[in-house]
Parts: sequence; structure tokens; C-alpha cells
Amino acid sequence: MLPEWVPDGVDITTPNAARVYDYALGGFHNFEVDRRFAEDAERAWPGVIQLAHDNRAFLGRAVRWLAGNGIRQFLDIGSGIPTLGNVHEVAQYAAADARIVYVDIDPVAVAHSQRILAGNRHATAVQGDVRRPQDILGHPTVTDLLDFSRPIGVLMVAVLHFIGGPDDPARILREFADATVAGSYVAVSHSVPAEDAAGQENVRRLYQRTPTSLHVRTPAEVVGLLAGWQVLDPGLVPISDWHPDPEDADDPAQRSAFGGVARKLSTG
Ligand SMILES: C[S@@+](CC[C@H](N)C(=O)[O-])C[C@H]1O[C@@H](n2cnc3c(N)ncnc32)[C@H](O)[C@@H]1O
Repeated sequence: MLPEWVPDGVDITTPNAARVYDYALGGFHNFEVDRRFAEDAERAWPGVIQLAHDNRAFLGRAVRWLAGNGIRQFLDIGSGIPTLGNVHEVAQYAAADARIVYVDIDPVAVAHSQRILAGNRHATAVQGDVRRPQDILGHPTVTDLLDFSRPIGVLMVAVLHFIGGPDDPARILREFADATVAGSYVAVSHSVPAEDAAGQENVRRLYQRTPTSLHVRTPAEVVGLLAGWQVLDPGLVPISDWHPDPEDADDPAQRSAFGGVARKLSTG
């Protein structure tokens, strides 16, 4: 029998990026097929589980930075299954009045987010596809909680590498830029070519078994996606180098994903 947190119709026979990432982070909302995938991936490319942790740490630092720069509304797209260091916890710790809407394509991610957010009047979760920005932007839950006449922090952390060229990720970013006011930001992280090219290629092949295949892009290509946004210092850099916390100074660098924060161009 399936656990009670599994929404109807979920395919538990195919690994899925949200649940694999949940397992990598030590979460419990995953199935045998996801755990096996994560372990195969770690064997094929040692360090990929650490990459998930480093990415989550980048997300936390980006949210803190945004809150520190006045952002009180977050639209977190490709938000994943809540595990550790969730955006609403980080944001509402920094600013109790912060509002957050989580958006994910995965029903398990959405159902679990809604469950843990029950009673939190300032945070909620909806199902949505980043490839369809207008559906997200026009979703009544999104427009009820977020005020688009004020700056918004859009988070697209470890999601754009699941979007292929034909879906035109630069168009996606421009649509979000067009929908937000000056003073808004976007935070992104993205897989980039790794030193262990063979290991990364093995993992890329493994992802072809999931509903969301992986598209590795060079840092220059990722910057090229940020249509309508201006990347801020220190630029799009290895995620471990982006405003590192002093206590992480001795951690090994994470160079197979780049991340950064960009501000909406005033002409964008
Ligand atoms: C690696 S997780 C990242 C989670 C979180 N953003 C973080 O960085 O900790 C990627 C998430 O993107 C979601 N995703 C993949 N394709 C998507 C799409 N087209 N629209 C929305 N979410 C998507 C997956 O379901 C998964 O939860």
C-alpha cells in the first residue's frame, strides 16, 4: 500500500528529479526507484549527492541575500519537495512578513509543500510548469498572495537545466522579467560542464530515464538565458563561490553548477 502522502496517479515506477533530489538531501518523500537512481548516479559520478547539498546551501544564501536586499515576496519555481533549509523558513526567519509561493511540476512536491504549509498564511504551493510562465503568473493563488506591483524574488534554482532548447529558456526568463517591476530579482543555479566529463555524461544519460532530461550548459550559455535581467556581482560563478558563508571557507569548491542573482533590467 502506498503511503498516505502519495497523491493519486503518481507514477512510482519511474524515477523523478524531485524525489531523487529529496533522497539526496536526506528526505523521505521518495520511492525505491528514486533511491536506486540516486545511488546509481552517485556511483556513475561520485559527488553528485554532495552537489545537491551544495545547491541547497546556495539556495539558502540567495534567499537570505534577497531578503537582506528588501525582497519580501518569493516565487520559487521548481521548488522541489520540502526537506531542509526550505525557502519559507529561510525567508520568514529573515523577515517574518515574507510571502512565498512554491511552484513545481511534480505532484508529490506540491502535495507535501501544501501539507507543511497548512496554517502558514504567507506561504503556499501550486502545481505549475516553468515552461508556461503565463499560467503561473495568472494562477489565482499566485496573484492572491503576491503583489506584482512590488518587487519579487523569482527563484529558478536547479530547474533551468531541465528545460531543453526547444522550450526556449531565455523566453521563459524574459516573460518573468516582463511580469515583474524594477527592483525584482531572479536567482538561478544550473549544471555546467564538470571536470569529470565522463561521470557527468553518465548522469545525464541516467536522467533520460526520467520525465525531465538534463541539459548541461556552459556558464556563458546560462548568462545568455538571462534575457531581461542583469547579473550582479560576483557574477554567475561556481555555487560554492557565491557569497560563501565564512564557516564554509574550507569546504571543497563546487564547480559543476554555477549560480548567481540578477536584477530586472530597468528597460527589461
Ligand atoms: C533539483 S530540484 C531543485 C529544487 C529546489 N529548487 C532547490 O534548488 O533546492 C528540481 C525541481 O524542478 C522541478 N521541475 C523540473 N521540471 C520542471 C518544470 N518544467 N516546471 C516546474 N518544475 C520543474 C522538479 O520537479 C524538481 O522538484
